[in-house]
Amino acid sequence: MNLEELKDQTILITGSAKRIAKSIVLELSKYKPRFILHYRNSYEDVKELLEEIKKYNSESYYIKADFSIKEERESFLEKISQESIDIVINSASIFPKMDHWKNFEYELFIKIFDVNLFTPASIIKTIFKNYKKGLVINFLDASLKYHYTDHFIYRLSKFSLEKLTYMLAKELAPYVRVNAISPGAILPPAQLNEQDKIEEKINIYEFYEKSKQKIPLNIPGNPEYIVQAIKFIIENDFITGVNIPVDGGEFI
Ligand SMILES: NC(=O)c1ccc[n+]([C@@H]2O[C@H](COP(=O)([O-])OP(=O)(O)OC[C@H]3O[C@@H](n4cnc5c(N)ncnc54)[C@H](OP(=O)(O)O)[C@@H]3O)[C@@H](O)[C@H]2O)c1
Repeated sequence: MNLEELKDQTILITGSAKRIAKSIVLELSKYKPRFILHYRNSYEDVKELLEEIKKYNSESYYIKADFSIKEERESFLEKISQESIDIVINSASIFPKMDHWKNFEYELFIKIFDVNLFTPASIIKTIFKNYKKGLVINFLDASLKYHYTDHFIYRLSKFSLEKLTYMLAKELAPYVRVNAISPGAILPPAQLNEQDKIEEKINIYEFYEKSKQKIPLNIPGNPEYIVQAIKFIIENDFITGVNIPVDGGEFI
C-alpha cells in the first residue's frame, strides 16, 4: 500500500500516548489517516497527541481501557467492534520488574497474559474475524532470541504473540497481512510507580551509552528506527508472517 492511501484508512494503535507508539502516530498522522488512539493512564499525553494530529484528520479520537480489567477490556472490544478499522498496531504492553521464573504466581501471570497476549488476539478477532481486508503489526522483543529467563512471564507472553503472528498470517491471508516488529534497546524500560504510571526515571544518556557497547552497529536505539520499519511493513504488500528485528544487531 502506498502511504498516501492511508488518508482513507482507520488505524487503531494501543498504548499510543507515549514513547514508541507516540512516534509512530506522529509520523503516520502526516498521511492523514483517522486514528483511534488507545491509552490507559496517560490521559494528558493522549489529549495532547490528539490535539497535535487532529490538524491532519479531525475524526481521530481516543479510547481509555486497562486491558488487565475484564470489564474495561470488554467495553473496549465492544466499542471497536462498531468501527471499520483497517490497520491495527498492538503496542500496549506490560514489563514488570518483579517477574522472575522462581517467583511467578497466578495473578501476575494472568495480568501479563491478559495485556500482552489475550487483548491483541481479541482485537484481531474482533476486527478481522469476517476476513475484512487489513493489516496487523504486533510488537515482540528482539531479546526473545536468546531465551533469557528474566522477565519470565513477559517473555512467555511475547513468545506466544510471536506464534500468534505466524498462525494468523496464514489463517487471514490473503485478506489480512499479519507481521511483527521486535525492538532491541530502543528506549529505557518504562518504570512504573504505585499507580502503574510510567515515570521516565532512567537517565537516557546512560542507557544509550551502556547499550551502545552491546550493539554491533555501535549506535544508540531510537523510536525513529521503529517508525521506519512500520512504514516498510505498510508499504510492502508482499510481506506477511514476518518478525523484523530492529536491534542494531544486538541479538545476531
Ligand atoms: N522500548 C523498548 O526499547 C522496547 C524493547 C523491546 C520491546 N518493546 C516492545 O515495543 C512496544 C512499545 O514499547 P514501549 O517501550 O513504547 O512500550 P511501553 O512504554 O512499555 O508501554 C506502552 C503503553 O502500554 C500501555 N499499557 C501498559 N499496561 C497496560 C494495561 N494494563 N492496559 C492497557 N494498556 C497498558 C501504557 O499506556 P498508558 O501510558 O496510557 O498507561 C503504556 O504507555 C511494547 O510492546 C514493548 O513490549 C519495546
